Amino acid sequence: MESNRRKLAVNRASVAHKIRYAARNPRRVAPHARRTARDAWLWLRHPRDHVAYYRAVMASDAARDADLAVGSGSKKRWLALGRMQFDYLRGHGLTPAHRMLDIGCGNLRAGWRFIDYLDPGRYYGIDISPDILISAKETVVAYALQPKLPHLTLTRNLTFDFLPAGHFDIVHAHSVFSHSPPQVIEECLANVGRVLAPGGFFDFTFDRTEGREHHVLREDFYYRTETLVGMAERQGLRAEFMDDWESLPHGQSKLRISAGVGSM
Ligand SMILES: C[S@@+](CC[C@H](N)C(=O)[O-])C[C@H]1O[C@@H](n2cnc3c(N)ncnc32)[C@H](O)[C@@H]1O
Repeated sequence: MESNRRKLAVNRASVAHKIRYAARNPRRVAPHARRTARDAWLWLRHPRDHVAYYRAVMASDAARDADLAVGSGSKKRWLALGRMQFDYLRGHGLTPAHRMLDIGCGNLRAGWRFIDYLDPGRYYGIDISPDILISAKETVVAYALQPKLPHLTLTRNLTFDFLPAGHFDIVHAHSVFSHSPPQVIEECLANVGRVLAPGGFFDFTFDRTEGREHHVLREDFYYRTETLVGMAERQGLRAEFMDDWESLPHGQSKLRISAGVGSM
């Protein structure tokens, strides 16, 4: 409990934290220095354009290992993280007839399970990274999911302007806002209400801090819950903190956004 509270208060961008972390994890210093140099170079090439920058980060990471690029250090972890997302939504009423939009679908760590479960054509995955979407298609092949006809689409923003209004029962973004600056989240929240079906909801995870909001290398962003709840409220959306997600071995927190009245 105490260590969790300390974790939630820590500012990973502060010099004091970096020194303490380096002293405790000397073997991680060299890889972190390489990552810092790479990210500085990519930010120089894509100044003030987070999506272009993060797309370049994903291209570099996916060229090494697509599973690692979505944050899983082993196939076992990749499978477990996908199952966690799937089981959670099943437990919250997902049925095969639902239409699902998976924002930042990555290489279908969870997506392949949703595609397998949903009726054909009901899964819609979008991502900013062409490299990870190529890997996503390989996952469709690996699990023989071609008959389910999933939609996999490249995007460069979260306006959803190419998608129909009132269409999706479930919108889902796992480990996406943990890599997103405020303007990306605001854009998503300003537009997601339009594509949600009546009674539908939008679940997203985020890296929570109870201290100062910060980011590390423009890759990992830490938000206070009330900041995100406030962003949702400014768009006329209701945000609920999902307590039952906290008990899962994941490390991020989850908010559920609802538009309109009624539930699934
Ligand atoms: C950590 S991975 C998680 C992938 C997937 N949700 C999962 O759980 O396996 C984050 C993914 O979000 C994508 N992404 C990051 N920012 C995005 C944005 N603004 N819009 C859409 N996708 C984004 C990245 O390209 C990457 O594939």
